[in-house]
Amino acid sequence: MSLVPLTLDPAGSQAAPVATLSWVLFAGGTVIFVVVMGFVAVALFGPARWKQALGRERTILWGGLAFPIVLLSVLLVWGLGLTASLGKAGAADPLEIRVVGERWWWRVDYPSFTTANEIVVPVGRPVTLELISNNVIHSFWVPRLAGKRDMIPGKVNRLTIVADRPGDYFGICAEYCGSAHALMQFRLIALEPPAYARWEAAQARPALSPRAAIAQRGEALFQTLGCGGCHRVAGTRAQGLRGPDLTHLASRRTIAAGIMPNNARTLAAFTADPQAHKPNVLMPGFGGLSAPELLALAAYMDGLE
Ligand code: CUA
Repeated sequence: MSLVPLTLDPAGSQAAPVATLSWVLFAGGTVIFVVVMGFVAVALFGPARWKQALGRERTILWGGLAFPIVLLSVLLVWGLGLTASLGKAGAADPLEIRVVGERWWWRVDYPSFTTANEIVVPVGRPVTLELISNNVIHSFWVPRLAGKRDMIPGKVNRLTIVADRPGDYFGICAEYCGSAHALMQFRLIALEPPAYARWEAAQARPALSPRAAIAQRGEALFQTLGCGGCHRVAGTRAQGLRGPDLTHLASRRTIAAGIMPNNARTLAAFTADPQAHKPNVLMPGFGGLSAPELLALAAYMDGLE
């Protein structure tokens, strides 16, 4: 993990002005702090003549009133101009993706399929995100690619981002939304256009039927336990829409909204006791299952590529 805060390491044109503005404010703030501390030192320990000069009405009017008014006005106008283009649609032919803030995860609707907690985009192409919420206010934030944008129930907010280079970008909810707020993370993954096209084509296909015996037992359990009441696995009877779409779960790098790596072990652990990993999540626990049953379920989910 880099020591540079993510906002100061921009990877797209919608985030670069934020970093520029931050650096200018840091530098200007540092210079003014040093100068003011110098005046404080003079006021405390300087010669009497200097102290007198500092106390004059004119010094106070210029230094204490005129200087901040001019400087802050210039910074405001410059900052507004610098960031005016942020979040607005850029070039033609944007990719449109709807992201819905759920409790506490992210529903990601592409034009022809749905996924969760990972937003995959092609490098260089503008992406228009339609941000909404099904419950309380969330805030969508990928620090290296754009500023924050709130997700407000009953309102559609738009944010345009462009990833300039391939990468795996950390995202998180930036508005307190309940007990698992800090556990509401996601990944934005930028792929070169050919790799993106392959990913998109694979996501639009229905799920593969499991071949291994253990995964077939897992699929049968998935059906009899009623997992399909909340989760959709395209091409099967599981058509629930409350929870994350699991059709291509195994293609994702993380589970539980970015907080755990995605493998059979974490899938089994989360299924057994979701509350232990994400307090107050809506999913009930399946701790009553035997270890072989949990492993079979995990093997099925781990095979949904
Ligand atoms: Cu969603 Cu904080």
